[in-house]
Amino acid sequence: MHVELQLQPFEKLDADMGIELITKETLETHSHKPTLERAGFKAEQDQICTLFEHNLIVCGIDSTHNDDVRSACVSLVKTLSQFNIQSAKIAVFNLESIRAVVEGFVLGGYRFETYKSEPKPVSFKRLFIASDTPEGESLDTEQVKAHLQKALLIAEATNFTRDLVNTTPEDMTPKAMGIVAKDLADSHKLECTILDENAIAEEGMNAILGVGRASTNPPRLIHLAYRPKHPKACITLVGKGLTYDSGGLSLKPAASMVTMKMDKAGACAVLGMLKAVSDLELPIEVHGFIGAAENMVAGNAYKPDDVLKTRSGKTIEVRNTDAEGRLVLSDVLCYAQEEVKADYLFDFATLTGACMVALGQYTTGLMGHNDALKQSIAQAAERSGELVGTLPFNKHLKKLLKSEIADISNTASKPYGGAITAGLFLDHFIEEEMKEKWVHFDIAGSAYTESAWDCNPVGGTGAAVRMGVEFIASLDV
Ligand code: BES
Ligand code: ZN
Ligand code: ZN
Repeated sequence: MHVELQLQPFEKLDADMGIELITKETLETHSHKPTLERAGFKAEQDQICTLFEHNLIVCGIDSTHNDDVRSACVSLVKTLSQFNIQSAKIAVFNLESIRAVVEGFVLGGYRFETYKSEPKPVSFKRLFIASDTPEGESLDTEQVKAHLQKALLIAEATNFTRDLVNTTPEDMTPKAMGIVAKDLADSHKLECTILDENAIAEEGMNAILGVGRASTNPPRLIHLAYRPKHPKACITLVGKGLTYDSGGLSLKPAASMVTMKMDKAGACAVLGMLKAVSDLELPIEVHGFIGAAENMVAGNAYKPDDVLKTRSGKTIEVRNTDAEGRLVLSDVLCYAQEEVKADYLFDFATLTGACMVALGQYTTGLMGHNDALKQSIAQAAERSGELVGTLPFNKHLKKLLKSEIADISNTASKPYGGAITAGLFLDHFIEEEMKEKWVHFDIAGSAYTESAWDCNPVGGTGAAVRMGVEFIASLDV
């Protein structure tokens, strides 16, 4: 999908179809009101009516708020893709709605057909944005261009993340993820360091090694760095990259194993954010650290009852091999904090089913010690159209991670509050001076969907990319 600004008013623009977003109020004075009403159009949110004789397609919206505009554009791109037309034109209400239109069309129009022998051809490819609003006011061209460029780059990075998440575990092994990272580094002038299993062993990261041991695809630790000339801040992004999570010896039931290719979504989001910040040339130094491994079953698998010695020196009692993400992250977080002294430390992980129980599948769980920081992330999420909810730590839940044999257990002794106890487990690996700078994002629910919602088709959603980039961009003050 190609979205471009055309420096012409809507009326003068040459496209196969004109698009209009109509509220119940604007329907009242619409020139085609009788025809639209005869067709049953009531301007309800996402309701579509096509008037081919006027080369016009209209869609109802409850308001001109971005959430409603984005949702309408998703319905529009799905409908337009069924027609034999190539282009359409739209007028935006204001500068902010450019983002909603781009998200609706570019994210809502996303398809993943890599594994289809006959991908479905779609003729609708181009959307033109007019230089004026539906009321005929002209918009500032430079500002429109800037908003459009930013929205497009972020949406494309989100689709890049989706492609990676959707790639099969057969194709996206830890080694393959290293190659993707290297290619991204080459095309975006990023620094790239990749540790293979031997280097990971030399660095004392036995938790990653333990998790990856039963797989024929050995683990990788990936470090990407974007270093602009005069950075205004420095942020470290850590991603859980389980290219497959079978559960290990604490094997998942068959039905729960399906979709576990998505357990690399945190890592893929980190790659997408690095792509976007470098494409946008943001003046913020950004580091991405990814722990890529495959949690499998074999004679040499790590076991419940094992004790793993992490890079930090802390020991972990393994009580459930399916709680592997926190093990991988314990080593990666430690390594990342040693390598870079950042102003912010965020980790992204499809960490717990419990996060979905707590917040529902659409919402990312935010955890950490710094309320103001979580608040500003929530505001960035709101602007970017993503949903977040904060889950509070407390000292009682923290006690549930005690181990008789090691420093800490990888599972809590009680099942309730599982997303929070997982977050509190990670907290053990955050250095004292980083506590206030750290936020944990549990994207277990939001990273992948088995039924379409908002601008997310089935599969990887690219969760955290939009809000992460929005937050990083907000550091440029
Ligand atoms: N990758 C899963 C979490 C997950 C579940 C992500 C469903 C997306 C959808 C994680 O490794 C896991 O299995 N966590 C366990 C932890 C438990 C054993 C303490 C879980 O959530 O059940
Ligand atoms: Zn697991
Ligand atoms: Zn997992």
